Amino acid sequence: MSMDSLKDLYIDELKDLYNAENQLVKALPKMARKASAPELQRAFQEHLTVTKTHVSRLEKMFQGMGEKPTGKTCKAMKGLVEEGKEVIEEDGDPSVLDAALIGAAQRVEHYEMAGYGVARTFARQLGENKAADLLQMTLDEEGDADKKLTGIAEGSINQKAEDARKPAAKRSAAKSGKRR
Ligand SMILES: [Fe+2]
Ligand SMILES: [Fe+2]
Repeated sequence: MSMDSLKDLYIDELKDLYNAENQLVKALPKMARKASAPELQRAFQEHLTVTKTHVSRLEKMFQGMGEKPTGKTCKAMKGLVEEGKEVIEEDGDPSVLDAALIGAAQRVEHYEMAGYGVARTFARQLGENKAADLLQMTLDEEGDADKKLTGIAEGSINQKAEDARKPAAKRSAAKSGKRR
């Protein structure tokens, strides 16, 4: 496809996002299955539902423009999903692996936030205000997912991951608040 206008570029960005979201629809159930902490499993499952609405939101936008959303592979998301797969295939302490899954997922969310920010700004420039609002809605939801993951990491998982390989004596000292 030739890039002769901002509209061409805008449609190309949307196709990239559409492919990225579809890759995630496949990857998130695997992340959820690998997660050990129930709240992390739930967060991934909930974001799967949200991700499916992102896919249909993009489909509606393409329908409105009389365009097809297919025909592009988001290589960056391929790489990010590949990194998530590395964690899925890893053995180790469940909390450490949960922390690693969160790290992989947050990279994905930030990539999506960048993509939706770019597309929203193009939509505004093109006077596609309804589309811009939809893209902003998705952007906000990606941001919510990212913040939720930070909350889960800081709430319990990072501490459990840190405690994972501590000798028992040190662990109980840490629990009672004694440093040494
Ligand atoms: Fe999404
Ligand atoms: Fe997302």
